[in-house]
Amino acid sequence: MKSPAKLALPSACKLLAVLNMLPQTVLTGLLALCSVSLTSAWVIPQSVLGNDANPPDSSSVDEDALARPSWFTSALMARRMLALSSSGVIATVFPDSIPPSARTPSTVAGLPIGLREYIADCDGSLPDELSHGGNGDPTILALRVATTFKNIGAGSNLSLEVDWWDHLADAGPVYPGLPDSPAALPRITLFGYLETLPELSDSASATLEKCFLRSHPDAKAWLPGVPGAPHASFWARLVVTQAYWIGGFGDVQQIGWMNVTEWKGIRRRSSLDGVGDGRGWEDVRLPGEKGKQ
Ligand SMILES: *[C@@H]1O[C@H](CO)[C@@H](O)[C@H](O)[C@H]1NC(C)=O
Ligand SMILES: *[C@@H]1O[C@H](CO)[C@@H](O)[C@H](O)[C@H]1NC(C)=O
Repeated sequence: MKSPAKLALPSACKLLAVLNMLPQTVLTGLLALCSVSLTSAWVIPQSVLGNDANPPDSSSVDEDALARPSWFTSALMARRMLALSSSGVIATVFPDSIPPSARTPSTVAGLPIGLREYIADCDGSLPDELSHGGNGDPTILALRVATTFKNIGAGSNLSLEVDWWDHLADAGPVYPGLPDSPAALPRITLFGYLETLPELSDSASATLEKCFLRSHPDAKAWLPGVPGAPHASFWARLVVTQAYWIGGFGDVQQIGWMNVTEWKGIRRRSSLDGVGDGRGWEDVRLPGEKGKQ
């Protein structure tokens, strides 16, 4: 027999993943409780599932299936997610003072704004002397007129959020006993600084453009230097310094700060010497993807 306290904990675990805005101290404490409680079998409470759901019999829950992937496997998933993502939300902060002449209301001074922007994992297609080796520093096509890049130009810091929520329909239910749930799908926020890429040679531009346009064919109209483009643009890269990962619900996925050496040391088919177990992001699959795991 399991104690009622033990049975109640998994719902807290699940909820805490949803409510990840909880203070870090509370979150860490709850996570610790979760990992302890998971050493015993548990059921998903009916109150979470609703009436038509069919909770698995606690004795039939496969505990191995509930084990979290390792942090290195999570880093592979995160790098794969970046590689397969064509956009992400960049958060910046409006300057502390906005001149009255500006079209931006002065009341948003100092406030954060998140805007979805085009990105691509194209660092590996930059010339050797410029490339960071395909280390997961996202390539960004920046428009001078866009709020995101105006804020950065005015000194704002930034972060970039990339997630797998658009793949909910393919992923289907990924958590035992729960219906389709975006909250169960991964997301990552990358911190760092934006580096404007220097002027590229014609051949380097062509290689980068080819990579970027694969996921953004429409962006051909506003590539840097395109005559008659509606807006001036430039190539930039986010140099990643920290990465915060939410793999899904905290009892079956990792949640927390990633080892940035691992993030940066992963390549498509392998990882650098001394990083993880040598696998690359091709060796993992994200929820709903077909093919080998
Ligand atoms: C940006 O972040 C750095 C820390 O990485 C901090 O020192 C700096 O003050 C921040 N800049 C602004 C404008 O907030
Ligand atoms: C981060 O990963 C690298 C490479 O796998 C490892 O050598 C290092 O010890 C890790 N750092 C921490 C703080 O775990």
